[in-house]
Amino acid sequence: MSAAKENRVRILIPQEDLERRVAEIAAEVERDYAESDRLVCVGVLKGSVFFMVDLLKRLNLPVAIDFFQTSSYGSNTTAGEVRIRKDLDLSIRGKDVLLIEDIVDTGWTLRTILDLLRFRGARSVKLCALLDKAAAREVDIHIDYRGFEIEPLFVVGYGLDFDERYRNLPYIGVMEAEDSAAAPPSPS
Ligand code: IMP
Ligand code: MG
Repeated sequence: MSAAKENRVRILIPQEDLERRVAEIAAEVERDYAESDRLVCVGVLKGSVFFMVDLLKRLNLPVAIDFFQTSSYGSNTTAGEVRIRKDLDLSIRGKDVLLIEDIVDTGWTLRTILDLLRFRGARSVKLCALLDKAAAREVDIHIDYRGFEIEPLFVVGYGLDFDERYRNLPYIGVMEAEDSAAAPPSPS
């Protein structure tokens, strides 16, 4: 039985829509960075991986890649509680950094990472996020390249997980849990 059937994932953004939008964003990024010889694409593990790979495969530019991993204490993240669990390997001083994220929810994670990238002396920092839960935002974040705005629902697939599952679904879905024990976290 597929993960989707077993756990009732309703498709919110089908695979074809993701592919089309990713291609559009890649074209925009390629145009905007055509003159840069120092682009570093930074992904936030693990959620951004599927989006990042698909995007970068379509990017005809010289590019370095690197990753952050963050975690936050408790379910209600606040600014001081976002921790860097895995830092970048590369120096980004003087580089053009494109930060790639799966989803911007409250914005706290991104706020922390964007501040850090700027503090480390990147020449430019832009944000590319596949999904934007704008209604859940708690801190102001400018998204330079945005895939889709979605309602403040808990979504899975294409990198996004519920308890480390569903990341490999090729679409974005909304979990419809059968009973309360299996209910996904309520949207923030
Ligand atoms: P923020 O700091 O509240 O913006 O949270 C961002 C992180 O929370 C994302 O990078 C995801 O890892 C996670 N997240 C937020 N909303 C969802 C969701 O609907 N499904 C799965 N993960 C989510
Ligand atoms: Mg994430």
